[in-house]
Amino acid sequence: MAQSLEVEVERILPGGMGLAHAGGKTVFVSLAAPGDRLRVRVEREQGKVLFASIEEIIAPSPLRIEPPCPYFGRCGGCDFQQLTYEAQLAAKAEMIRDCLYRIARLESVPEFAVMPSPDNWRYRMRATWQIDREQRTIGYYERGSRRVCDVVDCAVLRPVLQEKLEAVRATEWRQIPDELKHLDVVQGENGVSFAPPFDRFQTSELSLTVRGEVYQYNAETFFQINPLLLGPLIDFALGDVSGESVLDLYCGVGLFTLPLARRFKRVVGVEANPAAARYARRNLQQARLDNARVITATVTDWFRSDRASGPVDFVLLDPPRAGAESAVIKGILDLHPAAISYVSCDPATLARDLKKLTTGGYSVNSIAAFDLFPQTHHVETVVHLR
Ligand SMILES: C[S@@+](CC[C@H](N)C(=O)[O-])C[C@H]1O[C@@H](n2cnc3c(N)ncnc32)[C@H](O)[C@@H]1O
Repeated sequence: MAQSLEVEVERILPGGMGLAHAGGKTVFVSLAAPGDRLRVRVEREQGKVLFASIEEIIAPSPLRIEPPCPYFGRCGGCDFQQLTYEAQLAAKAEMIRDCLYRIARLESVPEFAVMPSPDNWRYRMRATWQIDREQRTIGYYERGSRRVCDVVDCAVLRPVLQEKLEAVRATEWRQIPDELKHLDVVQGENGVSFAPPFDRFQTSELSLTVRGEVYQYNAETFFQINPLLLGPLIDFALGDVSGESVLDLYCGVGLFTLPLARRFKRVVGVEANPAAARYARRNLQQARLDNARVITATVTDWFRSDRASGPVDFVLLDPPRAGAESAVIKGILDLHPAAISYVSCDPATLARDLKKLTTGGYSVNSIAAFDLFPQTHHVETVVHLR
């Protein structure tokens, strides 16, 4: 029989689980709130760590609310709906601090707060919908599983995307190609783009204006999930930098490349996805910024090539969740830029890479965080190093 324990949740850990202790063991509890007294069921054990789920809330934390979404707990998408929005922001700040002290081993962490999203529901303008033909389900993977949770209404989707989810769900199954296992969708000011395209759901070209720059993209390229905080994110990531030469690593369709090209004489963007790199070039061209080049390559390959030589004043990097490869950190250190701005959607890999950068001689100057992903444990962090 599964082991049952009574625990009190101390805080939320990076990754979003609640931390508790029982019988000399550490207990990680999913979907918990700090201060909850719970009866939990141990799902698995790994060394001295027990992974558990809530069986009964004995005494709820004052930070706990009733999760409004009917799929909460089953759907793998939102794991913070049980927390008040203020508690979500506080937990995210604590998660970042925890990583910076424990993994990056910073002696002191500059003051920062997590900037709230103006809307913390119906904010998402990008999603991937999983499709299970056999079960006839469309939605998101269930928590810790590859089963598709059949989602009729997703409370974090922007209204236009929710309408599209309904339209996809209303499509007859015989119109949905057999090989379609998931569908990437993204919204712009002029519509919605789908990849791969099928039936009337096409990979159309979109655009969005942020801080006066026009960005074009489609569902085959990365674009940030939450449009509501992109202005402040760009403002902080760039700070007051300007100069001769800048590198924008993992540049996507050029979210930072365009404003950087207005401040620096020479810009090089590096992006592995050919479709995103093509859009970045086009976005620069349409903004009449001819002082920037975008290279289609992995950043590691680009650093291996001799094109990565020459003085660079500023490096901005915004890698995917896995963080920057070791060769990339080494490449940046070899270039000795006067300043670095690291934009990250994962505090743990950010901290791992900061440790290497600080060991290489840089210091953390300032930090800001942005709640691009309300109702989930995810958070965007920007760190300035000098
Ligand atoms: C977090 S996104 C950031 C994109 C862009 N800075 C933005 O904010 O829109 C990371 C980008 O890195 C690209 N990418 C992933 N792995 C890469 C690699 N090894 N080298 C270069 N680009 C990579 C992805 O295609 C994606 O566009």
